[in-house]
Amino acid sequence: MELIIGFVYIAIALTLLSTSNAAEPAQIRLLRPRFGSGGRRVEGLDCLSWRLAVETNNLRSWKVVPQSCEDYVGNYMLGRQYRRDIEVVAEAAVEYAKSIQVAGDGKDLWVFDIDETSLSNLPYYARSDVQFGAIEYNETGFNQWVAEGTAPAIPAILRLYKTVLSLGFKTAFISGTLDAYTDIKILNLNQAGYYNWEKLILKGENDHGSSVDYKSQRRTELVNEGYRIVGNIGDQWSDLIGTNVGNRTFKVPDPMYYIG
Ligand SMILES: *[C@@H]1O[C@H](CO)[C@@H](O)[C@H](O)[C@H]1NC(C)=O
Ligand SMILES: *[C@@H]1O[C@H](CO)[C@@H](O)[C@H](O)[C@H]1NC(C)=O
Ligand SMILES: [Mg+2]
Repeated sequence: MELIIGFVYIAIALTLLSTSNAAEPAQIRLLRPRFGSGGRRVEGLDCLSWRLAVETNNLRSWKVVPQSCEDYVGNYMLGRQYRRDIEVVAEAAVEYAKSIQVAGDGKDLWVFDIDETSLSNLPYYARSDVQFGAIEYNETGFNQWVAEGTAPAIPAILRLYKTVLSLGFKTAFISGTLDAYTDIKILNLNQAGYYNWEKLILKGENDHGSSVDYKSQRRTELVNEGYRIVGNIGDQWSDLIGTNVGNRTFKVPDPMYYIG
C-alpha cells in the first residue's frame, strides 16, 4: 500500500514539474520511493522528522528521546548515517579552515565542544538503562561514566582538530563538564588523541544558569584576551548561539539529549 501511494505521489510530482516547465523538455530522473526506519511513522511520530526538527533547533527543551524513537535513534547513532553526517560537517569545517589566512600571532582560535563533539559518550548512551536518551538523564550514572575517562574520540572531529592545529590555529575546549573532573578529562582527551590545546575550560562551581550564558561568557573572556574565534563546533545549539560565537559555527548531530 505504501508503495502504491509512493508511485502516485511521484506521478503527481512529475505532472506538476512538467506543467510548470512546459517550455523546456523536462529531463527528470525517476526516483524510487524508499522506506527505512526513518520516515516511517511509529505510533504516529515520524522519527526522522523528529530528528530533523531537533537538529534544526525547531524542537527545544525536550527532556528525553520519544520512547517510540528509541530504536530509530539507536540505529542512527550506531549505524553509518551518524558517522557520515559528522564527516560532512568535518569536511566543511576543514575546507573553511583552509580558506582562512592565519595571522601567525597565535590568536586565531578554534573552539571545540567536548561531549558528542570531540569525545563520544555512545558507550554510555547505548546501555540498556540509558537507551540512547529515551530514559531521563541520570546524573549519578552519567558522572560515574565520566569518571572512568574512557570516552572514545569522534574520528572525523579528531582529524579536524589535528588539521586546524597544523594550519596554525590555537584550539580551546569549552565544556559543561564540572572542573572537578579536570584531571580525568585531560587523561581522556589525551588517550583519545587530543593534545596541545591552548585552553581547556570546564564549568566551575559558581557557573549557574544556562549553557548559552556559560559558554558565551567563556568565549567573551577569550575574545577579551585577544583571541579571534574563527571557528566553533559543537553538538548543541547552546554551543553555537549567544555572544562571540565565532566567524563560523558548525553543528554536529546529536539526537540523544538537549542542553539549553
Ligand atoms: C542512576 O544511576 C545509578 C548508577 O548507575 C543507579 O544506581 C541508580 O539506580 C540510577 N537511578 C535511577 C533513577 O535510575
Ligand atoms: C571574522 O569576523 C570579523 C567580524 O565580522 C571580521 O572582522 C574578520 O575579518 C573575520 N575573520 C575571518 C577570518 O573571516
Ligand atoms: Mg556537547
